[in-house]
Amino acid sequence: MNQLATSEWDVIVLGAGAAGLHCASLAAARGRRVLVIDHANKAGKKILMSGGGRCNFTNYYIEPSCYLSQNPHFCKSALSRYTQWDFIALVDKYGVAYHEKKLGQLFCDGKSSDILNVLLQECEQQGVHIQLKESIKQITPLPIAASQNMDSAGQESDTRWHIVTDQGHYHCQSVVVATGGPSIPTLGATGFGYELAQQYGHKVIEPRAALVPLTISDHWKSVCSALSGTSVPVTVSNNRQDFVEDMLFTHRGLSGPAILQISSYWSEGESIFIDLLPQLDVAAELRREQHGRPKIQLKTWLAEHTTQRFADIWLETSPLAALMSDSLASFNGEQMDEIAAALHRWSIKPSGTEGYRTAEVVLGGVDTAELSSKSMESKRQPGLFFIGEVVDVTGHLGGFNFQWAWSSAAAAAENL
Ligand code: FDA
Repeated sequence: MNQLATSEWDVIVLGAGAAGLHCASLAAARGRRVLVIDHANKAGKKILMSGGGRCNFTNYYIEPSCYLSQNPHFCKSALSRYTQWDFIALVDKYGVAYHEKKLGQLFCDGKSSDILNVLLQECEQQGVHIQLKESIKQITPLPIAASQNMDSAGQESDTRWHIVTDQGHYHCQSVVVATGGPSIPTLGATGFGYELAQQYGHKVIEPRAALVPLTISDHWKSVCSALSGTSVPVTVSNNRQDFVEDMLFTHRGLSGPAILQISSYWSEGESIFIDLLPQLDVAAELRREQHGRPKIQLKTWLAEHTTQRFADIWLETSPLAALMSDSLASFNGEQMDEIAAALHRWSIKPSGTEGYRTAEVVLGGVDTAELSSKSMESKRQPGLFFIGEVVDVTGHLGGFNFQWAWSSAAAAAENL
């Protein structure tokens, strides 16, 4: 047992990730004695991995509509009370340099560790204790009678929770569950928060991988594989959403920001539709070119708007294969419309996703119906709070998930 065994705290935060660390420092700044417990050997592993090593820590254009949840209104209160500007002010306080990459996405100029260091320094300054490599065994609310007991100093104690870990026993008034979702288990991710929530009667919305590459196993697989590493600007859509972003071909299927975004709105068995030339009115352009350059072949024309490799490989498997070597002059109006439709609405049915192994986040989690949107506290069990990714709130790609971590952490901290 270490020296903190059987110690008394106001707040114990489970999980030293983005939400847990931020919540801990904000609660400690309000005078609370805060302990953070994490089973990993390092705090904030997902932060370090994020944004390709440069942590896309927030977005200039945070909007509730950029979040998925069974209750799309739940995130509004927290996001409006602790905004992107609040977190940017914190980053500025530490002089961390950053830039807008695109679409309002803010990335560090340096490394993701700059953001982790901000959180850790805030924790240190506010006197937060962080215990790593410690596994939680049991969490039990103390019976009312015990919670009204005197503490060792003879003072009245309002301790409500008893936590047992592999290293000690702790008492605290509030438990904050910030253990994230189960994506990328190698970074310490678990479904612990869901189990704990269920233990107290909370419903958990079935979690599934989101912001994740899609796999293809039909005849298009060989095309994806042959074009692996090629990135193209597209508009990808289904009947619920559309995203204008880059798409990357991989050995197993499709990835890149456009595909990660649509993956959150995709269900097994559904097709997605990809506009391969979103900047061009293909039907009008073909008609124009038919007069200007009647002799060029379809594959040459497409190569001019994409690449030779893309045009050759993609056309060969597409419904346009029989036309690829024909000259533009040979096409009638119906064929030109057919070519336009095939390029503007490439329909492809993914066989699945790459799963938790590579997913940036999960959809689903602790049902918001039984949480207070103001404080993140359980409506079933007073003193129990859920923040960050463990909650059924999932953001779009682009800094939205970290902003949810910061905002939900702040909402809880105000009420601890
Ligand atoms: P987070 O996962 O950060 O922390 C949970 C903590 O709980 C971990 O430290 C874990 O060890 C601990 N834990 C789990 N189970 C436990 C147990 N049983 N006992 C004790 N501790 C336990 N988002 C974004 O906005 N911009 C970006 O650039 C990226 N990039 C990105 C890249 C990659 C590769 C991934 C995987 C994810 C992203 N994300 C992202 C998503 C972002 O990382 C994620 O939304 C936040 O980290 C969620 O913060 P939380 O604090 O909720 O969980």
